[in-house]
Amino acid sequence: MSREIPEVAVEALRAAGLVVEVNPVDRAATREELYLGLPRADAFLACLTDRVDAALLESAPRLKVVANFAVGYNNIDLPAARERRIFVTNTPGVLTAATADLTLALLLALARRLAEGEALVRGGRWKGWGPLQLLGLDLEGRILGIVGAGAIGSAVARRAAAFGMRIIYHSRSRSSRLEGNVPGAVRVPFEHLLREADVVSVHLPYSAAVHHLFGERTFRAMKRDALFLNTARGPVHDEGALVRALKEGWIAGAGLDVYEKEPSVHPELLTMPNTVLLPHLGSATRRTRDRMAMLAATNILAVMRGERPPNLVPELSALA
Ligand code: GLV
Repeated sequence: MSREIPEVAVEALRAAGLVVEVNPVDRAATREELYLGLPRADAFLACLTDRVDAALLESAPRLKVVANFAVGYNNIDLPAARERRIFVTNTPGVLTAATADLTLALLLALARRLAEGEALVRGGRWKGWGPLQLLGLDLEGRILGIVGAGAIGSAVARRAAAFGMRIIYHSRSRSSRLEGNVPGAVRVPFEHLLREADVVSVHLPYSAAVHHLFGERTFRAMKRDALFLNTARGPVHDEGALVRALKEGWIAGAGLDVYEKEPSVHPELLTMPNTVLLPHLGSATRRTRDRMAMLAATNILAVMRGERPPNLVPELSALA
C-alpha cells in the first residue's frame, strides 16, 4: 500500500493471510518509495496520487492486481497493465452519494457566498445584518447543466432537483439512470448546455479525450452569470483559461474540488472572492472511505484466490 488507508481493509487483508506492507509516511508516495516496494508485491493498493505507468509496472514482476482506492483510475496506464496481464480495479458505487453531497455543498457555498461570509465573521469585520450584504443566487428555478451522466452526475441531478433546479444534461447516450432520478431532465447537445445552464457541473471520468474540455472557447460560450463546478478531475478544465474567465467576467464563479496539477492551485484563484476551493474532498467521509478501502481489499482478495475481481475496470474486462 502506498499510503495508510482505513484500518478495516488492512485487517481484512491480514486476516486472509496476506502480508501487508504500508508506506509509513502519511503523504503521497514518492516514485522512489514505489520503486522500492513494488518489486516484491503480488498486489498493489494504489491511491489516485500514484502514477502507475509502464515503467513502474515493469519493476513489479510478481504483480497481479492494482486496486485503486478511487473510482477514477486515470492515474493508471491501462494498456501497460493489459500487456502484462495485471488486473486494475476501482471503487465504484460506494462514493456516489458522498461526492454528490460535496458537489451540492460547493454549489450552495458558491451561490450563497458562504466562504466570504465566514471570513467576515472570523475576521471580526462583521458589523451586523445588512439588507444588501453578501447577496447571492437563488437556486430554485435555475438550470443545472450536468456534463457526464454516470452515477455521480445522476445523484447530483437528484439532489439539485430537490432544491427546485431544472436539470439538463449532456452525455454520449441517453441516461435512464439520470432520467429515472429526475423525470423532467432533458438530454441536450453540449453547446446547448453551455448556452442555457446557470450552473455547469462536470462529472466525467478523465481521459485524453476530455483534456481541457473546459477552456477559453467553452467558458466564453457559457452565460456571463453562470457558475462552473468541477468535482471530477482537474485536467478537464484549463486552469489558466478559468482564471481569465473569472477575471474578465465571461462567467461569474467557480467551485472546485479538483485542480489541473494537484496539489498546486493557480495562484490567482486563491485571491478571487468568486471561487470556492476545496482540497479534493469528494469521497472524504469516514463511512465512504471505509467502504472504498473494503472494496479495494475485496478486489485484491478475489485476485489472490484466482478469481475475477468484482470491480475490474471495463477497459480490461477481456483479461478475466
Ligand atoms: C476520487 O477522486 C475518486 O476518483 O475516487
